[in-house]
Amino acid sequence: MTSNPLWSFDSLVAAAGAQPSGSPTVAITGFSIDTRTLEPGDVFVALTDQRDGHDFVSAAFAKGAAAAIVAESYAAKPGDGALIRTADTLHSLESIARAARARLASDARVIAVTGSVGKTTTKEMLRLAFSALGPTHASEKSYNNHWGVPLTLARMPAGTRYAIFEIGMNHAGEITPLTGMVRPHVALITTVENAHIENFANEEGIADAKAEIFVGLAPGGTALINLDNRHAARLIASARAHKIHITGITIDRSIADAVAHFGVDEAVALATVRMTATASSGDAIRDGGRDKLPFTIGTVGLHMVMNALFVTAALDAAAADTPTGLAALAAFTPPPGRGSRTRLPTAGGEILLIDESYNANPASMRAAFAVLPTLPRSDYPRRIAVLGDMLELGPNAPDLHAGLWDALEAAGVDLVFAAGPSMAHLYERVPLGRRGAWAKSSVELEPTLLAALAPGDVVMVKGSNGSKMGRLVTAMQEKFGCPASSETDPPETGPAE
Ligand SMILES: Nc1ncnc2c1ncn2[C@@H]1O[C@H](COP(=O)(O)OP(=O)(O)OP(=O)(O)O)[C@@H](O)[C@H]1O
Ligand SMILES: [Mg+2]
Repeated sequence: MTSNPLWSFDSLVAAAGAQPSGSPTVAITGFSIDTRTLEPGDVFVALTDQRDGHDFVSAAFAKGAAAAIVAESYAAKPGDGALIRTADTLHSLESIARAARARLASDARVIAVTGSVGKTTTKEMLRLAFSALGPTHASEKSYNNHWGVPLTLARMPAGTRYAIFEIGMNHAGEITPLTGMVRPHVALITTVENAHIENFANEEGIADAKAEIFVGLAPGGTALINLDNRHAARLIASARAHKIHITGITIDRSIADAVAHFGVDEAVALATVRMTATASSGDAIRDGGRDKLPFTIGTVGLHMVMNALFVTAALDAAAADTPTGLAALAAFTPPPGRGSRTRLPTAGGEILLIDESYNANPASMRAAFAVLPTLPRSDYPRRIAVLGDMLELGPNAPDLHAGLWDALEAAGVDLVFAAGPSMAHLYERVPLGRRGAWAKSSVELEPTLLAALAPGDVVMVKGSNGSKMGRLVTAMQEKFGCPASSETDPPETGPAE
């Protein structure tokens, strides 16, 4: 890396529009806003949000930071290295981000992913597919907000051929500046659902906020839109207003029907699909049905298949070698907490643990439950759902929780464990014979759950990250001797997502 630095100090200072004091003694190889994960050679950016990053500058240099971007008012301390002083550290990070985007080669392709659910999952699938074709850079974890997006851009090597960005929002207007920095050639919206609904009057408002991603599209860019989503027509109208090419993605329709019904420029659809306990495979169809592209992904569910169809369309839109990129998806396994599966050995057989503990809203709950019937009763006679509160749903939260019962019943769930005040509304709807236990919190549910498990169980654990259902995953893994894995908490020195 040292022979090929990410930035020269001079170009970084120029990009930041700031004043240097001192110069680095090591090459700049990365960027960090969090000293816990800082690597030697990183430039530390002292952001000010929930905590003041300036309190961590000394720690950053102690860990080998190449330089630090700090406020003009910052009083240098003994041991500090090269400083880049600026009026506003976040603005400087954004300026560096724009410079990073501007220095990409003209034939590099940038893909941006937004949507109510499935952003990280789709971003990781895209990373895998494009990595088979050339130097690829992608957002880490869910770094999708006002600091995550510019940080990802700042970290992007100049020689990147394919860049993939997750872009998120909690309020209208948040995506516009982020897509303006990213300037994607391909922008996709996985789904529009009632996540973060508490900040919006209705779902149409959420759709419009997601459609802001089209504002930043590079000239000649392509929008990829989920035609099976109830807001498809609204998203298409928005993309049309930006005069961009539109590819529709569908599981429910044929190509001809999709094009005729929605008036999209082209479509990618699904021909066949097969699911085993650990993988899904199928054929994507494009080009008016002339061309069938086989794919396999190491995870189960039609929502995951939909994400793979998005990858197919993104490869096409980036004028990449689509069959080769798609073939790379065979190595895909879901990121932690998003459907990863662990076989837990017990004395009398195994328990299948499905870890969905990272995120939950009504849509992703339903998508997760729908996977359970693909597991044969002969292998897994008992289906257990362990559910924590879905957060940020606003005043309809009780109904949205209670409304999940129909989907649980349709999925043949035999036993329901629930944690949290909102999940109590669902638990009340569960027939007595299918009630495991309810508790105020996941920690209080743990002993009852662990005592109830038996060989042959499939156990799905799902809830919003803030409901801390991941601790039940860890508890099960510890009890049955399997290593734990989970997405870490938000950074110490930066704002939460
Ligand atoms: N297309 C999809 N439709 C519905 N659910 C999905 C889809 N893709 C993935 N999921 C499920 O949704 C949950 C959240 O997935 P993921 O972390 O990819 O979403 P995200 O949009 O990145 O969330 P966040 O807003 O927290 O960053 C997981 O349980 C995942 O399995
Ligand atoms: Mg995410």
